[in-house]
Amino acid sequence: MNKAPLLLYAGLLMSAGSALAQPHLDMVAHGQEVFRMAGCENCHTAQQNGSQPMAGGVELGTPLGIFYTPNISPDKETGIGGWSENDFRRALREGRRPDGANYYPSFPYTSYTNLSDQDIQALWAYMKQAAPVRQANKLHQLPWYLRFRPLLTVWKWLFFKRGPYQPDPAKSVEWNRGAYLVRGPGHCNECHTERNALGGLDIKMALAGTNHGPEGVHIPNITPEPNTGIGKWKTADLLEYLKTGLRPDGDYVGGLMAEMIDNGLKYQSGVDLKAIATYLSGVPAVKNLVIGHKRSSHKSMVEDY
Ligand code: HEC
Ligand code: HEC
Repeated sequence: MNKAPLLLYAGLLMSAGSALAQPHLDMVAHGQEVFRMAGCENCHTAQQNGSQPMAGGVELGTPLGIFYTPNISPDKETGIGGWSENDFRRALREGRRPDGANYYPSFPYTSYTNLSDQDIQALWAYMKQAAPVRQANKLHQLPWYLRFRPLLTVWKWLFFKRGPYQPDPAKSVEWNRGAYLVRGPGHCNECHTERNALGGLDIKMALAGTNHGPEGVHIPNITPEPNTGIGKWKTADLLEYLKTGLRPDGDYVGGLMAEMIDNGLKYQSGVDLKAIATYLSGVPAVKNLVIGHKRSSHKSMVEDY
């Protein structure tokens, strides 16, 4: 057989192959971006004790009890390797397990519900190709009256607004992108917004900080209020902070926000960080002094900048 057509054929096959492979690779890369923006690693990878990525087991102390995050690596028995993409979408969008039971809002699906279908699909592509890790889940330590998942139906009825995010046509593309990132994957409200007695977010106080943040820490007001919020920060200050953790006063970020930046925000594009800044500068300025908000002064984990 003549070699030329064979080579030509092989060449065609290869180019067809890469044309097909490319979008998938792009999808995985995009999924990693979403994974980082959403800070999934902060809760599902026990970073201190050298645990494997996505294997869970991170202890989350809350006023209600202790939650242990589950294994979300693609291991078939101990992780979510047996899930379909639909199972995954239902978890993020509706806060429900494959068997229909409710998740506790300690899994911030109250924000992730806003993720677009495309972002969920890319995230799934990224998660599926991660290394499976065999590590059994631990049971949450909750008082008996909270162990009953059907009760969460009432909670969700009160406080859960199902997504995805609906763009506001009266606002710019940049504002909508920022709103999407803040209220969706960035889940900024989950920490920066005060909760009511039942643990629902108090939307009148959106992003105005709280004295009762996760793990009992004080979370600063990030509305554009000049004295108690970040109204005096310039756009460039905020962009610098989201990228490197450096505050305008020369101090460095610490604690949970350092994780948000180090595992996620610092990898986001300048365009997306700018969109976040644009959105934040336009939210209602709420006067709310967070008492005793102390920043840890150690140079944080953000050091490769
Ligand atoms: C603030 C901590 C936190 C963050 C951030 C977080 N999770 Fe979770 N996640 C949890 C907790 C806690 C649970 C268990 C909830 C329950 O048992 O009801 C959970 C459960 C899950 C489950 C269900 C697993 C199962 O076996 O049923 C999946 C899937 C999941 N998370 C994926 C993600 C992804 C993807 C991200 C990023 C987009 C993410 N999580 C970010 C805390 C978190
Ligand atoms: C897991 C909890 C958590 C989440 C989620 C979170 N933050 Fe924070 N944020 C904090 C904490 C804690 C601090 C205080 C950090 C410190 O000690 O310096 C902080 C500080 C900040 C500050 C600096 C305010 C100041 O006065 O020093 C800004 C700006 C900020 N966050 C923006 C955001 C944005 C934007 C998002 C969403 C993309 C977000 N945060 C999501 C916990 C969080």
